[in-house]
Amino acid sequence: MPHLATRMSRAKPSAIMLIAEKAKQLKAAGRDIISFSIGVPNFLPGPHVYQAVRDALEKDSGQYGSNRGPEALLDAYIEHLEQAGLTGYQRSNIATAIGAKHMLYNLGEALLDPGDVIVFAVPYWTTYLDMAEILDVKPRLLPCSSAQNYKLTPAQLDAALPGAKLFLFNNPSNPTGMVYTREEISALADVLVRHPDVWIICDDIYNRMVFDGVGYHNFVQARPELRDRVIQVDSISKTYGMPGWRVGFIAAPEVVANAVVTLNSNHITNVPEVVNAAAVAALRGPQDIPIAKNAEFAARRDQVYAALTAIPGVVCPRPQGAFYAFPNISGAFGKSHNGRVINNDVDFCAFLLDAKGVACVPGSAFGDPLALRISYTCPADQLAPGLQRFQEFFAELA
Ligand SMILES: Cc1ncc(COP(=O)(O)O)c(C=O)c1O
Repeated sequence: MPHLATRMSRAKPSAIMLIAEKAKQLKAAGRDIISFSIGVPNFLPGPHVYQAVRDALEKDSGQYGSNRGPEALLDAYIEHLEQAGLTGYQRSNIATAIGAKHMLYNLGEALLDPGDVIVFAVPYWTTYLDMAEILDVKPRLLPCSSAQNYKLTPAQLDAALPGAKLFLFNNPSNPTGMVYTREEISALADVLVRHPDVWIICDDIYNRMVFDGVGYHNFVQARPELRDRVIQVDSISKTYGMPGWRVGFIAAPEVVANAVVTLNSNHITNVPEVVNAAAVAALRGPQDIPIAKNAEFAARRDQVYAALTAIPGVVCPRPQGAFYAFPNISGAFGKSHNGRVINNDVDFCAFLLDAKGVACVPGSAFGDPLALRISYTCPADQLAPGLQRFQEFFAELA
């Protein structure tokens, strides 16, 4: 029998999906399960989005669309960037894809050759490492512990960039929910200016989900001369409650946007027309739902943070964006629950799910085996009981 490509020996199914699947199976078997595992928003877009889809169906051309994206969507995205303070982008700087994830793969193909070095912080969004493995590039990982609020320091970045082809940055962060301040972004941008041979991808898809007035800051605003190396990645998935619609964007130097358009022409041809219409409506329509949801997530963050920090031995930097918390639970290692010794984060999450029906993702899926990820987008009436069960689990450790 012929065999699969070598790269498939490096590709793994998503660790997050595996946990979410296990929680689903237990639920189907009748267990009372509260899932803190999957990072999906808990709301749908407004009626204007569905109306735009109906209108698009009425006018359906039935034809292939633009490899870059229709002009209305490019313009809507440029306006969206301008609202975030990122001005001066033209249509030729923009490209679309089937979600940010597909865009990141496009960028990997466009920018990286096998063996190239790619730098990113740990904890990282799981796909970054999977993507590096599939593309056969060398990840240079920069550990950022809970003691440093899971944030990269300028000195770490400076030491890691020589010889690298690409720096991949994520702010606000999945899995930690941490957000870099204006000063922190500015200090990292100063470092990036000193390394002119490195591409910079800013996976900032949670940029509208920031709390406490910290604001969203980026390298291009901090040091405009970085614009010819910075690729801003965005998506409608989280901000607009539209993860299944699959639209992602970049704002990038023309040469990069054009490369993505070329890849699109060979991979997907175009994002479907009705989906594009939905994305235009989301970006240009009333923003009341995303704004209200952001306030709700900030309130949930308060609840989650209060519950976690009340547990002796748990260390959790205070998240300020997205909808994740990433507590360090290593204080539980070596203790036992119901007679079973917790050796690591995977044991912790497995025993927690067995005993309390609460599903969390082990931190090792994100490169940090001392922690776990809580995604707090579950139905509102499950949040408090889920947190209480989490606290009970800790209280029962011997
Ligand atoms: C940091 C980060 N980047 C990209 C994505 C992918 O987004 P999309 O749904 O647009 O593919 C996710 C989704 O969880 C994410 O957390």
